[in-house]
Amino acid sequence: MCGIVGYIGSKNAVPVLIEGLDKLEYRGYDSAGIAALSGDEVVVHKYKGRLRYLADRIKPLQLSANVGIGHTRWATHGEPSDVNAHPHTSESGEIAIIHNGIVENYAQIKEWLINEHGVAFKSDTDTEVIAHLIEYYYEGDLLDAVYKAIDRMEGAYAVGVISKHHPDQLIAVRKDSPLIVGLGQGENFIASDIPALLKHTRDMLLIENDEVVVLTPQGVTIYDALRQVVERDVLKVTWDVAAAEKEGYAHFTIKEIHEQPKGLHDTLYRRINANGGFNFEQINIGADDLRQINRIYIVACGTAYHAGLIGKRAIETFAGIPVTVDIASEFRYSDPFIDHQTLFIAVSQSGETLDTLQSLRYAKQMGARILSVVNVVGSSVARDSDDIFYTWAGPEIGVASTKAFTTQLMAFYMLALHMGMLNGRMTEEGFAEWLEKLKGIETLAEQTLALEHAMQRIASEQFNNDSVFFIGRGADVDVSYEASLKLKELSYINSFAIAAGELKHGTIALMEKDTLVIALATQTHLYEKTVSNIREVKARGAYVVAVAQAGNESIKEIADEVIYIPQCDDLLAPVLSVMPMQMFAYYVALDRGNDVDKPRNLAKSVTVE
Ligand code: F6R
Repeated sequence: MCGIVGYIGSKNAVPVLIEGLDKLEYRGYDSAGIAALSGDEVVVHKYKGRLRYLADRIKPLQLSANVGIGHTRWATHGEPSDVNAHPHTSESGEIAIIHNGIVENYAQIKEWLINEHGVAFKSDTDTEVIAHLIEYYYEGDLLDAVYKAIDRMEGAYAVGVISKHHPDQLIAVRKDSPLIVGLGQGENFIASDIPALLKHTRDMLLIENDEVVVLTPQGVTIYDALRQVVERDVLKVTWDVAAAEKEGYAHFTIKEIHEQPKGLHDTLYRRINANGGFNFEQINIGADDLRQINRIYIVACGTAYHAGLIGKRAIETFAGIPVTVDIASEFRYSDPFIDHQTLFIAVSQSGETLDTLQSLRYAKQMGARILSVVNVVGSSVARDSDDIFYTWAGPEIGVASTKAFTTQLMAFYMLALHMGMLNGRMTEEGFAEWLEKLKGIETLAEQTLALEHAMQRIASEQFNNDSVFFIGRGADVDVSYEASLKLKELSYINSFAIAAGELKHGTIALMEKDTLVIALATQTHLYEKTVSNIREVKARGAYVVAVAQAGNESIKEIADEVIYIPQCDDLLAPVLSVMPMQMFAYYVALDRGNDVDKPRNLAKSVTVE
């Protein structure tokens, strides 16, 4: 997500900021900017696009400043643009701030500042309110103004503040977003992450929630929420930059697998309103609109397509509207039945996949209403949509999609419940019950991650296989497709996924002694049928690893090995069952010596047909 850096000292702040931001590039971003106190002016330079672009623009200006703040933004509120990029300034331009996180009540604060105080806003961001609030409260004491401003703010934030009137101060605040202070000789730093500062210092202070820090060139003072000074031990950093960028994980892929509980949490919780319903800010489909819709297409590629398959099950279950799921590269050429009563749902992590984008444009031209489930804010898919559901997976850097998938599933469960409420298929009680189940997934996902050691062991026993089969029924087929794709792209093993009941219509001819079959058997209502299919492959000598819900003892008698996911509703099981499959693919790839974060022949964003 966003990266922040700040500097105060005797050196020129500008190169320090740019180099620091450069070290945070791995977090993913879409715009970059700096603010520095040059002469007695707060100078701001910020641009959409790469950090290099910003650096090239400011180089000829030969800016010189002893205090400054820098930011790389990963858009949440408002599309990526020069105006929405950080730093943001107060109306007078005398205060500049950078921010990581979200000001959840920004809309109320913004309304109050505009209506009661006539403040003019420049951007669409939640962040800008912070700069205006600080200026509103400023009466000569910057620290006091910052305290008063944060008192009004709800949400998560790490903020850096500079002011024209306080050239000897850099103030920073932390609540639920990472913030560290770097200690130097006659200079001090702030950053969202240690790598940004390692070139300058290895002495760090870890800032805790609700603390406010005042940095001067000579020293750093930490205050708690009651404005009392807090002592903090200095942390000596001994590890190298590369490891830190992955936050201790060996690869982005495994880091992103571990980030899934958080992604699920963020995608859900940021949309639950005070009345226990959903607040879909960028979706305007009301009951009347939904009444007009008699058909839904979900169109996507790869992993996003697999999420769509499960989305279909959720929408048909909760809202009773027929859904067709199609692969984007096929959709446009299959004469789909589209008219103004069609809802077209595009699913995409990057929002730039050309086939998905072209399908969306085609459907739009034919009169469909376009809803997108997309991770990257302001991406082409999002921009061309009538309604947008942003998943909150955060930047996905590993080429294989992992956390984007599970947040897409969460998006579909939420959308389906919403549609069910709108068309009256879902009762208030039913909604409340399902909402509780959705809230519980995050914890179950945490528990599922504990399967990592088991998956690592199974991978070490199986990585030499030439082929792997994934089988399942119902939603387990959909997860089988995804598990097979993950294994293929990371390990380069020839893997194959099939509906378990289809095996005997041909594929069973491939079963022989020790053929590895991974049988997903999490769907309790189809369990007995799946067991029959497992028996069929076992009878031909296959080695079966089953994935089942905890508490299912009988499966141990049939399968050679059982992986247990926590107990959950059948419809939600894919969120959990896919996680051991992701970990299996990851460890098999490692055992085979592959480049897991960048598998051969693949690109993160496929912008060709
Ligand atoms: C698989 C994978 C791809 C993408 C597909 C769509 O791990 O990453 O199959 O899911 O290329 O990409 P987006 O979601 O960006 O449209």
